Amino acid sequence: MWVKESRNPKFAKGIYVVADVGWRDHTVTSDESLLRPIPSFGDLSLSYALGVLGMPGMTAYFGLLEICQPKEGEVVLVNGAGGAVGSLVGQIAKLKGCKVIAFAGTEEKCRWLREDLKLDFVYNYKKVADQEKAIREAAPDRVDCFFDNVGGEAFTAGLCNMKILGRVSLCGAISIYNAKGEEVKGPYPNMLIISRELKVQGFIVYGWLPKWGDAIKEMIGWIQQCKVQTKETVTEGFENMRAAVYGLFR
Ligand SMILES: NC(=O)c1ccc[n+]([C@@H]2O[C@H](COP(=O)([O-])OP(=O)(O)OC[C@H]3O[C@@H](n4cnc5c(N)ncnc54)[C@H](OP(=O)(O)O)[C@@H]3O)[C@@H](O)[C@H]2O)c1
Repeated sequence: MWVKESRNPKFAKGIYVVADVGWRDHTVTSDESLLRPIPSFGDLSLSYALGVLGMPGMTAYFGLLEICQPKEGEVVLVNGAGGAVGSLVGQIAKLKGCKVIAFAGTEEKCRWLREDLKLDFVYNYKKVADQEKAIREAAPDRVDCFFDNVGGEAFTAGLCNMKILGRVSLCGAISIYNAKGEEVKGPYPNMLIISRELKVQGFIVYGWLPKWGDAIKEMIGWIQQCKVQTKETVTEGFENMRAAVYGLFR
């Protein structure tokens, strides 16, 4: 949003902010906590504030680098890999010298991940009969870092392939967001987590808000050096927002 009028010097007229104020074309607020001024992105698009240089980008950055702490030569598994978060996780993992196993749900996304982003093993989860087996074949020595966007059966498939002392970053569970309580039963992975000595950590990206500034600067550098690519899905028209959001779940 663009600040049209302001009596708060921290939010001067004319600056752009990301505003957590709901779906609206105008708003009046005195609650500073709802507004995040957009820093300078140089010659990059302002729209990146909603993607690679905003919440999804920071989710990938901190969820991978802070929780999984991938090291050169390690194996990183990411699902939802064609999405805003997952595609950045795969690329940052490659930047860190890791081997990446990725799952996405369309041939177009898989081609992009394989051919443009050069991820090592890419699978269309809608066509793979057994995700657990596919991961095992890609990483016979198992997985060091698992970034889970999907949850449910995809979570189990990843967890079963973890190395001892592996790190699991629980980012999302989009496969079960719409499930009713009864439909989400098990697994009960306690023994697996204990015996493989896994670190499993959920997170909410806003917990790292004080560190976003430095991360955004690093991400801008990666984009400018063509080390990170980003794609945007743009929906035109305020009246089409509802359809755009529902589209994420299909
Ligand atoms: N913890 C946090 O702070 C935080 C912050 C941001 C986002 N998230 C979570 O991170 C995840 C990814 O977010 P995003 O912004 O990158 O999403 P996104 O890719 O823009 O959209 C979600 C994608 O998930 C895939 N998907 C939908 N249903 C699925 C299913 N049943 N099984 C497997 N994949 C499915 C779809 O891609 P396909 O075509 O590949 O099926 C869809 O495009 C979401 O779970 C989101 O809630 C968490």
